[in-house]
Amino acid sequence: MSRIVMGVESSCDETGVGLVRLHDDGTVELLADEVASSVAEHARFGGVVPEVASRAHLEAMVPTVHRAFDTAGLRMSDVSAVAVTAGPGLAGALLVGLSAAKAYAAALDVPLYGVNHLAGHIAVDTLQHGPLPAPSLALLVSGGHTQLLRVDDIAGKITEIGSTVDDAAGEAYDKVARVLDLPYPGGPPIDRAAREGAPDAIAFPRGMTGPRDAAYDFSFSGLKTAVARWVEAAQARGEDVPVADVAASFQEAVADVLTAKAVRAATESGIGTLVISGGVAANSRLAALAAQRCADAGIELRIPRPRLCTDNGAMIAALGAHLVSAGCAPSALEVSADPALPVSTISL
Ligand code: KG4
Ligand code: ZN
Repeated sequence: MSRIVMGVESSCDETGVGLVRLHDDGTVELLADEVASSVAEHARFGGVVPEVASRAHLEAMVPTVHRAFDTAGLRMSDVSAVAVTAGPGLAGALLVGLSAAKAYAAALDVPLYGVNHLAGHIAVDTLQHGPLPAPSLALLVSGGHTQLLRVDDIAGKITEIGSTVDDAAGEAYDKVARVLDLPYPGGPPIDRAAREGAPDAIAFPRGMTGPRDAAYDFSFSGLKTAVARWVEAAQARGEDVPVADVAASFQEAVADVLTAKAVRAATESGIGTLVISGGVAANSRLAALAAQRCADAGIELRIPRPRLCTDNGAMIAALGAHLVSAGCAPSALEVSADPALPVSTISL
């Protein structure tokens, strides 16, 4: 008998509600993935404003839940379990989703799973590419995180083997976009501008790639500063900033470091599968370079489609389904949000 799992996501600026079907063989099928974004309300501030995000979640939550059930053609009474992001994320934003999920779980009398957002970014790949081989390596690249993770069991064991020591990759995109007068969030417009530019036009630095640097850690703060200095110098000389070349050269530096370190980690750990997820995984150059380097190294590459890479509720539903399938204990109804939840804690 298959089971329906509902997933609720509200850690940042996306209110996401997903519905999946957990089949008896453990495979998980996507039925609905509804997202309401408050990104436009944050754009003029150049970043997410927590209070604005919380209020937007509150307004969007119930309509988004109803849309998900309409899309899937299901009734609420069909749900067997509710999963919800318990962290990491913005405290006030997390609380809105958590409160809603608790109410649905209590009203429907089904188990509640408070889960890790970062593990959700990995679990979502199983909706598109099927069960994850064990172990797999995950490169998680979002606005808040840049991490290399060893995934032995998506429902049981995730270990961080490297992370950024300063900015996340997405954060660097957002900051460079601001320097180039491109809109927020910066990833998509830089990705587009870069297509018209030369990736080798400007030699921007590759952070943490020296012989004494930690092999699997990242740093993007120096790169961001180098781009800002380069643009300021051009402006001081009264020159037009070659936006496409700057975007392409910056993007090349990010994609180069991310893929080189991920492929090295997979090779040195003897892991044959690399999953790239999180908002920055939607980047066209990152995908192309990863495909080339993984093929050269004999590594299977899995990148979920862009819609699944950015924050959504389906990723939380997928992770919840894997926890249900593995027989993991549900959370207590009084489970609270943890804004700094470490990736090794998959559920609370
Ligand atoms: O995973 P996500 O949706 O939210 C967080 O959990 O942070 O990631 C958002 C980040 C933003 O920094 C955005 O600029 C970046 O993902 N992003 C991209 C692209 N699309 C979104 N970065 C590079 N290229 C893209 N095409
Ligand atoms: Zn995310």
